[in-house]
Parts: sequence; C-alpha cells; structure tokens
Amino acid sequence: MLSTPILLDYQSSTPCSKDVVDSMKPFWSEIFSNPASKSNLAGINASAILEASREKIEQSLFLKNKKIIFTSGATESNNLALLGFARNFYKKTGNYGHIITLKTEHKAVLEPLNQLKKEGFMVTEINPEKDGLISEELFKKNIRDDTFLVSVMLANNEIGVIQPIENIAKICKSREIIFHSDFAQCLGYMALDNLLSDVNMITMSSHKIYGPKGIGLLLLDEEINLEPLIVGGGQEYGLRSGTLPLPLVVGFAKAIEIAVFNQKNNAEKLLFHRNTLLEGLLKNNSGLLINGSIEKRLPHNLNLTVLDLNGAKFHKLLKSKIICSTGSACSNGEPSHVLLALGRSIKEAESSIRLSIGLNTNSKDIKQAIHILTDTIRLLR
Ligand SMILES: Cc1ncc(COP(=O)(O)O)c(C=O)c1O
Repeated sequence: MLSTPILLDYQSSTPCSKDVVDSMKPFWSEIFSNPASKSNLAGINASAILEASREKIEQSLFLKNKKIIFTSGATESNNLALLGFARNFYKKTGNYGHIITLKTEHKAVLEPLNQLKKEGFMVTEINPEKDGLISEELFKKNIRDDTFLVSVMLANNEIGVIQPIENIAKICKSREIIFHSDFAQCLGYMALDNLLSDVNMITMSSHKIYGPKGIGLLLLDEEINLEPLIVGGGQEYGLRSGTLPLPLVVGFAKAIEIAVFNQKNNAEKLLFHRNTLLEGLLKNNSGLLINGSIEKRLPHNLNLTVLDLNGAKFHKLLKSKIICSTGSACSNGEPSHVLLALGRSIKEAESSIRLSIGLNTNSKDIKQAIHILTDTIRLLR
C-alpha cells in the first residue's frame, strides 16, 4: 500500500484551522444576509458583523490610518493596488509615469505591471543580487524624476528571502513615491513591527495563514485614491464592488488574530524543522546549492538546487512521496523566473525544489523527507 506523501508545500496553501472553521459556521446558513442590504434588520446585523471583523483585523495588526479593502485574495489585491493606483495617477496628471519593481516578484505583481506597460507606463524591473535581495544602491539609481510607484514584496514566495523594505519605504517617502508591498507570505511568520505603517499599500491573503481560500485584503493609506477594477454597488469605499462573502471575512479575521498571537512561537517551531531539514540534507548529500539568503529568510522556507541530476526525473520520482513545489512559476512548465534572476542556469532551475514547512509538520516528517530526498538523489546520480 502506498503511504501518504509528506506535505512540504505550505507556502502554496495551508489548511483552514479548526478555530477558523468554527468561527465561520454560523455565517453560512443562519446569519446569511447581505451586509450591503441596510434597509432591513438582517442586513444591518450582517453589516455589523462585517464591520466587527474589519475592526478585529485593525486591532490584531495595530493599524493606524489605514483602510481595509476586502478582495478575493492577494492576486486581486495586487491588481487593484497597481492598476488602480497607476490609472488614477494618469487620470489626475495626464502623465504615464515610471514604476519600479523587482524581477523576482510574484506574477500577480509582474503581470499587472506588464498590463500597465501596454497602457503606456514605463516599468523598470530591478534584478536582485545573487542572494535574492535588492541592492538599495541600485534601487536608488533607478529612481527617476517621474517615478511615482514602487512595488517590492516583503518576502519571496519561492526563495523566502526578506527584502529590506523598511529602507525602501524610507527612500520612497523622501521622494514622495507611493510604495506597495506584497505581504502574502509574511503575516504570522515574521514580526511586522512598523512595516504596516511604513508602506502605503499592502497585500495580504487568507489561505497562506490557515484561513479560508477566496479572501484577501489590501491595506491602503487613507488618503490614497484608486481607480476601481470592479464597479457596481459601491462596496468597500467604492473601490471594490460586489457582495462580500461574510463567512470568509469572519474566518480571515480569526486567522489573522491567531497568526499574530502565535507568530513568535510558530516561527521558532518552523525554523527548528527547517534547519533540521537543511542540516540533514547537507550532511547526506553533496552538490546542493541554497537559493537565496539563508539569514534573511522566512522560517518555513527552503529552496535548493540539486546539481548533477535530471530535474524532470527528480520531480517525477518525488511526486508520490513528497508534496513540494518546483517554484510557483513552474506551474506552466517554465523554469522559475526567480531562480533565473538569481543567476541559476535553466538546468539548475529545473533541478531545484521548494520545501515549505507548516504547523502540522513534525520531526518524523522531516526525518522521512531527508531520507526520501537523499535516496532519490543517490538513485538519479
Ligand atoms: C507572494 C504572493 N503573492 C500573491 C499570491 C497570490 O495569492 P492568492 O492565491 O491569494 O491570489 C501568492 C500565492 O502564492 C504569493 O505567494
């Protein structure tokens, strides 16, 4: 009988925690009214629950002077922030200005920026250093008089590196440039401290933090105006029309509360397993390259290039034993744009692997994963 594969792909998604599922229960069929229907008592009740969830998020994250716009997830939040801000900028100024981003951003940032290029805006994609981190010097050099928007993610989804966005935020502020950052991989895994107030537009997603899928948010400085992408009933300050999914909003608020409360303990636990995995793999195998800075990195991420073997065969053999990722950009069969930007060859990118640890991972999983990976590497070499 085949044993269940070991799950090491928690950066793709996480299971909903029991407390989150419980928090959502009353809002599927008992309290189900439309929060925008304020002409009746049931709608007013639903609206109060929606606003209580918004407040809970504000309190959990210690937000000041930020609007919370609920969306369907980080992809939509990034689209709304980038397309919405740039189009509003053009509407106000009549100019197509300049935008800076990183080559290693998620496609949910790079693709809206490609769209903006087609519309007439100029976009510079900065290459990170070999360790995956942005050079502040290079960033400063790329700023132009007409730069009006910067998007640099806090932590990378493939290689887990944490960018020095506190400094990027300071530089942007001093030049009056609006700064957007994708935090989809960060909440609950690292301390956010002042970052939430330093960045003008912040993207978050629920299903990366043991919340339900289909809900995310964009945090917006109060004075920022966006062109909405979805128009209609004028929900979410007119920036994102459509009836909000109350159960998902409630579950997301609960997931945020839990993630923030447990952040320190969870990060320690994840880091311990990640380091055990890394040490075990390095001890038993030669020819492993760590992709991205190991110091400035999320505690649950590991990304390795395995030299001297065929990547396609490697992933095929692993498939039934370990659930892991070849890098999000590989979903369409292409080698990871992140690893290529770090200077890896196509062959190296193809024989790379992202292992991401979750709260359900235990020491037995880690031991078995080391064993399976080592055996597979030996077999293929
Ligand atoms: C950094 C980053 N941004 C955006 C997304 C897209 O998130 P969602 O699935 O919530 O649309 C992901 C998901 O993998 C991500 O890791």
